Amino acid sequence: MRGLAAGNWKMNGTAEDLDEIRKLISGHPAPACDMLICPPATLLARMADIAAGSALQVGGQDCHPAPSGAHTGDISAAMLRDAGATHVILGHSERRQDHRETDQMIRAKLETALSRNLAAILCLGETREEREGGQTLDIVGRQIAAGTRNLDYSADNLIIAYEPVWAIGTGLTPTLAEIAEVHAFLRDQLQGACGGKGAGAGVRLLYGGSVKPSNAAEIFALPHVNGALVGGASLRASDFGAIVQALAAAAS
Ligand code: PGA
Repeated sequence: MRGLAAGNWKMNGTAEDLDEIRKLISGHPAPACDMLICPPATLLARMADIAAGSALQVGGQDCHPAPSGAHTGDISAAMLRDAGATHVILGHSERRQDHRETDQMIRAKLETALSRNLAAILCLGETREEREGGQTLDIVGRQIAAGTRNLDYSADNLIIAYEPVWAIGTGLTPTLAEIAEVHAFLRDQLQGACGGKGAGAGVRLLYGGSVKPSNAAEIFALPHVNGALVGGASLRASDFGAIVQALAAAAS
């Protein structure tokens, strides 16, 4: 399975930061994995122009479930495509928290994204309290089922990112055994009840939450980890490039 190194710039970046994208592309003209950056919407079209013809793909960070209409401040799946996006992140824990997104809302967005030819990165993960309460597999099991049960998807247009909420932006990561346990569980779900007409076996599973050059290789060596969703360390070409290289090396 080809790995995916995905970067999420969140609410960071203005035009001057596009230089990092130029550096990333020139430093990694043909990586042995897929490479994606999801910038803020304001940079999407410019980043897509820079990335045209390169190994880098660009994506959005959210989209509205409706195709268009009176939704001030929102962005539609068609707009993301129009700006050059091939992917969209959905259900990130910051959106679940900041915008009170529910599993049902995320499911509606997912269906819209797929229908508009965007590949979706569905994010899921437990809070610290849920982990300490021994509920991790229940929570991620509920989230992946809500997102994928009876969904018509393929291994090309759905990606799952396991991101423990408490590991995002904190420098903390689960133990390798904990990451491996959740990824094996998610793979199992994708081969079973969440299998989507058999496509689940090929869906890539990303780990996200404080991935950096120093821990990427050991995470990528785990079974059922097919890449990473990277926040802070995706903002600099040198850091993200090192993560891309670690993923490419894990695949070889
Ligand atoms: P982080 O963010 O790498 O800064 O922890 C990951 C994410 O939110 O996708």
